[in-house]
Amino acid sequence: MQTLHLSIKTCSKIFHLGFALVLLICLASPTSSCTDQEKSSLLQFVAGLSQHGDLGASWQHGTDCCQWEGITCSTDEIVTDVLLASRGLQGHIAPSLGNLPGLLCLNLSNNMLSGGLPQELVSSSSIVILDVSFNRLEGDLHELSSTPARPVKVLNISSNLFTGQFPPTTWKAMKNMVALNASNNSFTGILPTHFCNSFPSLVVLELSYNRFRGSIPPELGSCSMLRVLKVGHNNLIGNLPDELSNATSLEFLSFPRSGLQGILQDTNIAKLTNLVTLDLGENNFSGKIPESIGHLKRLEGLHLNNNNMYGQLPYALANCTNLIIIDLSYNNFYGQLNKVNFSNLPNLMSLDLIQNNFNGTIPESIYTCINLVALRLSYNNFQGQLAKGLGNLKSLSFLSLYYNNLTNITHALQILGSSKNLTTLLIGRNFQHETMPVDDIIGCFENLRFLAIGNCPISGKIPFWISKLANLEILILSNNQLTGIIPAWIKALSHVFYLDISNNSLTGEIPTALMDMPMLKSANPRDFILPVYPAQTHQYRQAFAFPILLDLSNNKFTGEIPLDIGQLKSIHSLNFSFNDLTGQIPESIFNLTDLQVLDLSNNNLTGAIPATLNTLHFLAVFNVSNNDLEGPIPSGGQFNTFGASSFDGNAKLCGSMIIHECGLAEAPPSTVLSTEQTDYKVACVIAFSAFFGVGVLYDQIVLSRYFG
Ligand SMILES: *[C@@H]1O[C@H](CO)[C@@H](O)[C@H](O)[C@H]1NC(C)=O
Ligand SMILES: *[C@@H]1O[C@H](CO)[C@@H](O)[C@H](O)[C@H]1NC(C)=O
Ligand SMILES: *[C@@H]1O[C@H](CO)[C@@H](O)[C@H](O)[C@H]1NC(C)=O
Ligand SMILES: *[C@@H]1O[C@H](CO)[C@@H](O)[C@H](O)[C@H]1NC(C)=O
Ligand SMILES: *[C@@H]1O[C@H](CO)[C@@H](O)[C@H](O)[C@H]1NC(C)=O
Ligand SMILES: *[C@@H]1O[C@H](CO)[C@@H](O)[C@H](O)[C@H]1NC(C)=O
Ligand SMILES: *[C@@H]1O[C@H](CO)[C@@H](O)[C@H](O)[C@H]1NC(C)=O
Ligand SMILES: *[C@@H]1O[C@H](CO)[C@@H](O)[C@H](O)[C@H]1NC(C)=O
Ligand SMILES: *[C@@H]1O[C@H](CO)[C@@H](O)[C@H](O)[C@H]1NC(C)=O
Ligand SMILES: *[C@@H]1O[C@H](CO)[C@@H](O)[C@H](O)[C@H]1NC(C)=O
Ligand SMILES: *[C@@H]1O[C@H](CO)[C@@H](O)[C@H](O)[C@H]1NC(C)=O
Ligand SMILES: *[C@@H]1O[C@H](CO)[C@@H](O)[C@H](O)[C@H]1NC(C)=O
Repeated sequence: MQTLHLSIKTCSKIFHLGFALVLLICLASPTSSCTDQEKSSLLQFVAGLSQHGDLGASWQHGTDCCQWEGITCSTDEIVTDVLLASRGLQGHIAPSLGNLPGLLCLNLSNNMLSGGLPQELVSSSSIVILDVSFNRLEGDLHELSSTPARPVKVLNISSNLFTGQFPPTTWKAMKNMVALNASNNSFTGILPTHFCNSFPSLVVLELSYNRFRGSIPPELGSCSMLRVLKVGHNNLIGNLPDELSNATSLEFLSFPRSGLQGILQDTNIAKLTNLVTLDLGENNFSGKIPESIGHLKRLEGLHLNNNNMYGQLPYALANCTNLIIIDLSYNNFYGQLNKVNFSNLPNLMSLDLIQNNFNGTIPESIYTCINLVALRLSYNNFQGQLAKGLGNLKSLSFLSLYYNNLTNITHALQILGSSKNLTTLLIGRNFQHETMPVDDIIGCFENLRFLAIGNCPISGKIPFWISKLANLEILILSNNQLTGIIPAWIKALSHVFYLDISNNSLTGEIPTALMDMPMLKSANPRDFILPVYPAQTHQYRQAFAFPILLDLSNNKFTGEIPLDIGQLKSIHSLNFSFNDLTGQIPESIFNLTDLQVLDLSNNNLTGAIPATLNTLHFLAVFNVSNNDLEGPIPSGGQFNTFGASSFDGNAKLCGSMIIHECGLAEAPPSTVLSTEQTDYKVACVIAFSAFFGVGVLYDQIVLSRYFG
């Protein structure tokens, strides 16, 4: 999406950087034969490996090494390229490769090579492209004498385990450097100051994900060819130096999460007219977005999230007509958004303004951005009704308006019903004291997977139109004033695995229909993915996995807990607390083997706690306090870890963890649990409390990475 027209093609092809720089490096030729010295250098390299994939098959002593897998020779029969990326190689890199007199390109990327990077390769007087990225190489980079100048143009040592400081003389020797990628290692020390004195032709400099300290060297401003500068995720201090604005070729300026502060100077930004991506997120920047942002006509990504910036958005933002992503989340911006004419931004796909102080109505010009996929305006102070135009956003998949001051939920749902691609709709904490709209007036939301209308509060009943949301997975209606019963059609929501209707005034018995909800009975762990962006990265998917949950707490439910509760075999969290439930705790709960949280407190339950509950190995939170239970508390298993507060307010219970010890007649059955299981359980508690500790987690979704 971000169109940096920069491709450094692989070795034996054309080396092409930008429009201007075209180098021809290697001329491949299939009919040649190599020298014995080259052959033995290569064989020494293979001999140094502990695992060499399938190289053994073609790398045979008696054959021409120009014909070997991964080897290319020039017309005059000299080995020029050794291209062995992603071959499953393990072991050390033998220095012998440095003896190949004509080697231009060495690509060992994406293997499992360990040990150091031999000095002979870094100081080679022939290698032009050296890529050892994505291995497990370690140690310091050695000092090299600054003369003679080395020919290396591309050095990619990223995603290894290198440590130590950047040795200054080494870089002085690399006068021809065009692209240096050292990101994702553990380099320390300050950033070298002399980069562009040493490397006048530097185009790409990536140093992110290291432990560099100090400030950004002003000397970077003299990098007149520099187009990519990425130094995020380090421990830097200070502001962007004014001099950096002299690097006017910059297209990617990226310093996320690197400890910077200060303000964005109007005059500096004005000069960087080639910027395509400006990423200064997760720093400590303050001040306003300068008007000169309007000069950045090529800008596609603006990431200023998680800073302390404030003020109104400048009108000129609408001059950046190529914007695709705007992320200003978690700042103190305020005022009315209609200062910016969003209809000038036809390419906009993601607008994230969560947690600022914007007010007024949501400007209608946003509804002309027909490519919008994600719109997050939550935690602001927008008011008024949604405008009809919102229905024009046919690509809209994620919409969060949570925690504003919007009105007329009926109108809102009618409009949104025509956004057919909506998968996530978070509109709670608005519509104060309105009534839940009923039945067929609402659109079909055929793709909706996540609906949250909590904390309004709104009154009325659980509406029938929800039964038509065939793809719904997460439903949150908590903290409202809903009345009436849980309708029997609830079991038609065949994909719902997370149902939170706590803190309402619902009545009647807990319907057996709930015990027939398919996903609560047998969910597949792969389904517990926050259904916001199905195409998200693996990392994201894990981070926001939701538990399987049924929360009916704080209502007015009566009657007994259905015996069929034992069918909800997948459930992780069951909360029936603060209701008026009577009868016994069903024995069948012991069938809920994945249960981590069980809260039945503050009801009128009687009888004994089933002794078999001690077989629930993952149970981390257990609360039956304030009921009318009697008899011995089970012992063994997880029950050895629950404190007295889990059982308070049940005068007839007895057990070793509460004051009332059991007499001989009522001694509890004891089960011995291995320490292994106990450890597992501790891990579970941590994971689970981390999830519940985050509060309105479902709105804290990092949208920026979607297009990033
Ligand atoms: C090395 O090979 C990998 C895999 O083919 C490729 O992605 C990478 O661009 C190559 N490196 C260079 C510098 O050409
Ligand atoms: C290593 O970095 C170079 C220069 O930026 C790049 O061309 C190459 O594709 C990178 N290698 C991999 C495996 O990404
Ligand atoms: C630099 O290295 C990082 C991490 O290995 C990689 O993600 C990035 O694509 C590389 N950059 C270039 C331009 O190759
Ligand atoms: C850093 O390197 C590790 C190991 O090669 C890799 O798994 C990880 O994805 C890399 N991270 C980034 C941000 O490139
Ligand atoms: C940056 O450019 C300005 C003129 O635009 C010049 O006065 C200043 O010395 C330059 N700074 C550096 C560090 O090159
Ligand atoms: C933005 O565009 C308007 C007209 O379209 C122009 O008057 C104004 O100077 C521009 N501002 C910037 C900062 O480019
Ligand atoms: C928006 O907030 C500002 C103060 O930040 C206030 O002056 C203005 O009246 C508010 N506008 C509306 C429409 O609430
Ligand atoms: C709706 O979503 C589908 C599937 O993600 C996609 O193929 C389609 O292009 C989207 N429609 C619009 C109008 O964006
Ligand atoms: C919400 O908006 C109404 C006007 O629609 C206003 O009277 C009220 O003060 C606003 N509430 C807050 C908390 O801003
Ligand atoms: C709310 O919306 C409905 C349906 O669009 C409309 O009939 C009603 O007049 C609106 N209510 C208010 C107070 O504007
Ligand atoms: C619970 O499990 C027992 C035996 O494992 C089985 O007989 C019983 O039917 C199950 N109960 C429910 C409600 O699934
Ligand atoms: C629950 O118990 C309390 C106190 O024992 C009693 O006042 C209340 O009526 C009971 N509720 C029901 C529904 O049985």
